[in-house]
Amino acid sequence: MSATALTNIGSLVTNDETLGNGALGIIEDAALVFEGELISWVGPAAKVPATDQQIDLAGRAVLPGFVDSHAHLMFAGDRSAEFAARMAGGQYEAGGIRSTVAKTRGASDGELESNLLRLVDELHRSGITTFETKSGYGLTTVDEARALKIANRLTPETTFLGAHVVPAEFADDPAGYVDLVTHEMLTACAPHARWIDVFCDRGAFDGDQARAILRAGIAQGLMARVHANQLQAGPGVAIAVEMDAASADHCTYLSDADIKLLAGSNTVATLLPGAEFSTRSPYPAARRLLDAGATVAIATDCNPGSSYTTSMPFCIAIAVREMHLTPDEAVWSATMGGARALRRTDIGRLTVGARADILALNAPSHLHLAYRPGVDLTHQVWIGGRAHRVAS
Ligand code: NIG
Ligand code: FE
Repeated sequence: MSATALTNIGSLVTNDETLGNGALGIIEDAALVFEGELISWVGPAAKVPATDQQIDLAGRAVLPGFVDSHAHLMFAGDRSAEFAARMAGGQYEAGGIRSTVAKTRGASDGELESNLLRLVDELHRSGITTFETKSGYGLTTVDEARALKIANRLTPETTFLGAHVVPAEFADDPAGYVDLVTHEMLTACAPHARWIDVFCDRGAFDGDQARAILRAGIAQGLMARVHANQLQAGPGVAIAVEMDAASADHCTYLSDADIKLLAGSNTVATLLPGAEFSTRSPYPAARRLLDAGATVAIATDCNPGSSYTTSMPFCIAIAVREMHLTPDEAVWSATMGGARALRRTDIGRLTVGARADILALNAPSHLHLAYRPGVDLTHQVWIGGRAHRVAS
């Protein structure tokens, strides 16, 4: 197998404290070698072993590709008018999801797939090398299953979110919809999904419904993650911890008890700053979560309603400026934090044996991600050792 060395790396974020400085395990003047899909060597540039191919990165920063552990990419249409109305004083409500459901049901498989491909290209350009995507805009057995089938061609991290909202045709029979989700729809979707999720919030599903939905999914071999405490304080976080969910996502409105529960659990608090930005909501108490010892991930939440961004650097910049993460914490949360939220150990780090999912920046250090907001700093992305962006 041919080996490629990335040499003359100004600053290499490994996310392994034993390899370099600080929690990010930073090695200055570094090199990295990958063979096929995996990293085979990491260390000081002066000691790089001989390889078939060398790429001189001219002092640029290199970090693990971002892990986007929360996105909703299986949809059609957009909701720019709803965004404009919010910016003029309107409020975000879960009910807006139904307008995307109508558009998505009316789209062909080809349209859904080309919209997905367009968004995945954007994700890669922003430095994301692993992404999760949910269903949740079909809300019939056929529409949810087809979304997951299409998504599963591009990522193993697919999430069944039949419990996004109760669709209009079940408005008078929410219990009937929960029954559909937990039986026929789940059976059709489980073969194409790794995860089950539920939107446990005002205007969506209550605590009892959320528990029933997650239990049914777990019984079919799926692992749990939860949309929790986005619109108001509620039982979502506690249910996520109780069910050993990999992640409680949003966490916009947290009680002291929620913070304590997350800190004492295996459940990652996944923060989605793009959603607070685009819905003009308060930002979550990230500092309190971190100081209590919770594991924090940052993800895009890319979706047409509450957060139509594919840019992890944008989310990092907001997490630093508005949520008071340090730049190091934000980069860790967007890489290793995302890997933890997906219960993956092969990504989110640049160490021997990890996947060669690598981001080289047009900047000398990872600090520039927050320091230069809104600037495209992606120089090159490798996914499983394959270059995905022509260097600029
Ligand atoms: O994560 N909160 C639920 N789902 C999405 C929003 C979906 C939409 O508005 O279309 C979210 O923010
Ligand atoms: Fe979401």
